[in-house]
Formats: sequence, structure tokens, C-alpha cells
Amino acid sequence: MSIVWVLLTIAAVTVEGQPQPACDSVGDGSPVCSCGTGRISCKDADLTDVPTDIPPDTDTLELSGNSITFPRLAHLELRSNKLASLPTGIFDNLPRLEGLQLDNNTLESLEDPDIFKDLQNLRVLDLQENNLKSLPSGIFSESNLERLKFLSLHYNALTEIENGTFDNLPSVEYIYMQYNPLKKVGCGMVPTKDMSPFLETFTISCTCDLEPLFDCPEFAWLGYKTLCLSPIWIWRTPLNYTSPDRWGCGGSGSNHTDWFVLAILLFLSSLFISA
Ligand SMILES: *[C@@H]1O[C@H](CO)[C@@H](O)[C@H](O)[C@H]1NC(C)=O
Ligand SMILES: *[C@@H]1O[C@H](CO)[C@@H](O)[C@H](O)[C@H]1NC(C)=O
Ligand SMILES: *[C@@H]1O[C@H](CO)[C@@H](O)[C@H](O)[C@H]1NC(C)=O
Ligand SMILES: *[C@@H]1O[C@H](CO)[C@@H](O)[C@H](O)[C@H]1NC(C)=O
Repeated sequence: MSIVWVLLTIAAVTVEGQPQPACDSVGDGSPVCSCGTGRISCKDADLTDVPTDIPPDTDTLELSGNSITFPRLAHLELRSNKLASLPTGIFDNLPRLEGLQLDNNTLESLEDPDIFKDLQNLRVLDLQENNLKSLPSGIFSESNLERLKFLSLHYNALTEIENGTFDNLPSVEYIYMQYNPLKKVGCGMVPTKDMSPFLETFTISCTCDLEPLFDCPEFAWLGYKTLCLSPIWIWRTPLNYTSPDRWGCGGSGSNHTDWFVLAILLFLSSLFISA
């Protein structure tokens, strides 16, 4: 599993001391882990480092109950790894972590609601380009993410954001939410405290489903901080400078879509004519 190799690489550069081989095939002394086909268990083995020589066909590496820490680790890049799930507690013991890149994996859910709990120095959390369908209750708001500045969730499969999800992020400046098929939109989904002094932008895709936001009490400050990254004719327009009518919601259909399609057709035909 790729995460193992990433962690091993990190271990090799950041942890001093001599890691032991996981499976001692030579027979000089007892192996620290029990090694079966595809599975290595180094549970409760008093390890301070990730063991070396993990066979490449390993699909499960159990390291629970040890004292492995990465006390100086500040950046952990796990992007583009086909990660489908994150083991419970995987980011515990990373007190200095500032950047965590989990983008472009295949995460469908984050089972452990405490997974980011102890990342009190985290500034950047990239979760974009996964298949996240939902977020556990309190995933950010009940963690200690008091330094988090960038939170990226775009290109996921989120249909709903639970009430209060973005509360208790006292340093957040950018929340990227665009290209999620949000269906259940309510006032609790947006930050409910006035974060206008530090929040720079909350970016989303503007669809008719967003209409309820216009009536939220938060809209007075959030309307200006919320930028539409689609549809394209209102790209980067603050929500309070536009209105669902302009995206063809309700009323008599999608005038703007029609104009947009027509403009593209005219452009293409002009290419053909000039060719
Ligand atoms: C995403 O990851 C896949 C491999 O899983 C890789 O082929 C692709 O180039 C990556 N895309 C981006 C935008 O990094
Ligand atoms: C979410 O919050 C809104 C107000 O912000 C409230 O009207 C709604 O009932 C809440 N929903 C749940 C499920 O708590
Ligand atoms: C949008 O909000 C900003 C900041 O509150 C305000 O200055 C601006 O006039 C508003 N724009 C409209 C069109 O209401
Ligand atoms: C479409 O255009 C007509 C006339 O130009 C206008 O009355 C109507 O409100 C528009 N509808 C939308 C959804 O923008």
C-alpha cells in the first residue's frame, strides 16, 4: 500500500536511530513483527520507528500500540495515491504537521471523526479530488484546527454539509467547496459565526439549490465572501452581486444558458468559416 512507502520514506529521513527489519527471513534473532501473506502485524512491539523491509505485496501493516512518532514532521504529502480509506488515528502524534495533502485519492468517507483532532498546527488541508460523499459530524469543528487557513474540498461528491461543519475554525481564510453536487443546502452549512475579518473566500458552484442561502442571517457578511466558480458567466462573482434568477432558476427558464450555448456555437462556426 502506497501510504506505507510514504511513511517509510518519511521515517528514513526524519527519525534517527536504527529501524529494525519487520520480517527477519535470515533468522538472526526474532522478528519484531509477525509476517503473513499480505499482512504484517507489529502490534504492541515497543517500536519507536516504522520497521524496514516491508514486502511490496503487503496490503495491511498493523502498527498500533507502539511508540512511533514523527516529532518534527511538518508536511505530509499523500496526494495521488489511490487511498480509499484512512486508518483510525493515522495522523495522531504529528504535533508539528502544517500541511496535509490528501488530494486526488479515492476517499469516499472519513470514518474516524477524530482523524484531524490533534493537528493543532495544521495550516493547509487538501481533500479535493476525492469521492467524499459526506463528512462525519464535527470533523473540523470538533478538532483542534485553530491554525487552519486553507481547507479544500472541491471536486468531491458531497451532497450535504452538516450544520456547524465550518464553525470553530478561527483562522480559516479559504474554504473551497466548488464542484460538489450539493443538494441539501441550509443556513447551518455555512460558517455561522461572523468570520468576515479573516475569511477571504468561500468558493462554491452556484446552482439553483443554493437559493436558501440568500435568506440566511449570515448572508449579510457571507454573501460577499462567497464566490461562484460556476456557472462560467458569473465566475468569481460574489453571491451578493448576483441572484438565482441570473442562473436561470425559477422563472421562465435558462436564458443565460441559451445565450452561452449560442455564443459557443457562433464562436465555433466562426472558426470553421475562417478555416
Ligand atoms: C491523480 O492520480 C492519478 C493516479 O492515481 C494520476 O494518474 C493523475 O495524474 C493524478 N491527477 C492529478 C491532477 O494530479
Ligand atoms: C441547521 O441550522 C439551521 C439554522 O442555521 C436550522 O434551521 C436547522 O434546523 C438546523 N438543522 C439541523 C438538522 O440541526
Ligand atoms: C455586497 O456586500 C458588500 C460587503 O458587505 C457590500 O459592500 C456590497 O455593497 C454588497 N453588494 C451588493 C450588490 O449588495
Ligand atoms: C428571460 O428573459 C426574459 C425576457 O428577456 C425575462 O423576462 C425573463 O425574466 C428571463 N428569465 C430568466 C430566468 O432570466
